[in-house]
Amino acid sequence: MPRGSSRTAEAVCFFRAVETAAPAATRALVDPWARHFLSPARRASVDACASAVGQMMYGRVRPIAWLHNFVVARHRFIDDALTLALDGGSRRLVVLGAGYDSRGHRFASALDQPALELDYGPTQAEKMRLVDQAPLPASNVTYLAVDFMRDSLRGVLATQGTVRRAFIVWEGVTMYLDEGAIRATLLDLRAAVDAGSELTCDWFSRPPRGLAALATGAASRSLALLGEPFRSSYAPAEARALLARCGWQVVDLADPPEMTRRVFGTKRQILPWCFVLRCVAV
Ligand SMILES: C[S@@+](CC[C@H](N)C(=O)[O-])C[C@H]1O[C@@H](n2cnc3c(N)ncnc32)[C@H](O)[C@@H]1O
Repeated sequence: MPRGSSRTAEAVCFFRAVETAAPAATRALVDPWARHFLSPARRASVDACASAVGQMMYGRVRPIAWLHNFVVARHRFIDDALTLALDGGSRRLVVLGAGYDSRGHRFASALDQPALELDYGPTQAEKMRLVDQAPLPASNVTYLAVDFMRDSLRGVLATQGTVRRAFIVWEGVTMYLDEGAIRATLLDLRAAVDAGSELTCDWFSRPPRGLAALATGAASRSLALLGEPFRSSYAPAEARALLARCGWQVVDLADPPEMTRRVFGTKRQILPWCFVLRCVAV
């Protein structure tokens, strides 16, 4: 468990802030609150990256560009799915491993029950402090502290009664959990929500061999030093099968070329070893 606020949550928030600061004609995502969760030094870096020169240089460093584009594409995929679900009658937003996700604020007017955000206690404490200081739109968020590797989600969610017509976001988290924690979370979630509730989540799929595998190993060891090691990877068929065993039917899955096509047209390339999906409680 990270000692303070999650570094990976800060990193993905940084990518969203950079994307939001890009010219309207080229950006694929607008998260106006992302920069409010960053330190003054990181906000200055966002502005530098968003300048014409910064964008040119940033886009040339392929691993950073791939990662940036992946973080933006999955967030946009989930935003689009949430918009559709709200139009279709979903009313309860649940965000697992929420970090600095601002959807509880961005979509507040469409939600008639408090959004539930679950994460490590220290990350939530820092988020609550920053929310109090920022000019975010009013929202109704219930923060529930949890460690998915140790705690029973069923116990934590039991305090909320049956969660009906839920839209659950599990973004950028599965790769930090082992298979036991993923399976337990999926089963506990399924027990806590009604049939038809939706879950969107993304997965890391291990690169086969060679340089990519070495680079991924190095990235994973760096994350371990921050207290947030990668613990799992799944091929799409493996994730589908695991979800099905836990009561979740996949209804949409986008691999890297499909994410690129939907979100960026053909203009940008994203990290090749990942995918995002939407599934329904059956
Ligand atoms: C890459 S960040 C993603 C944050 C957020 N979902 C987003 O996309 O902006 C990973 C998040 O998962 C949380 N997380 C990872 N492992 C966890 C665990 N075992 N229990 C609770 N939260 C965890 C981290 O604290 C962090 O907020």
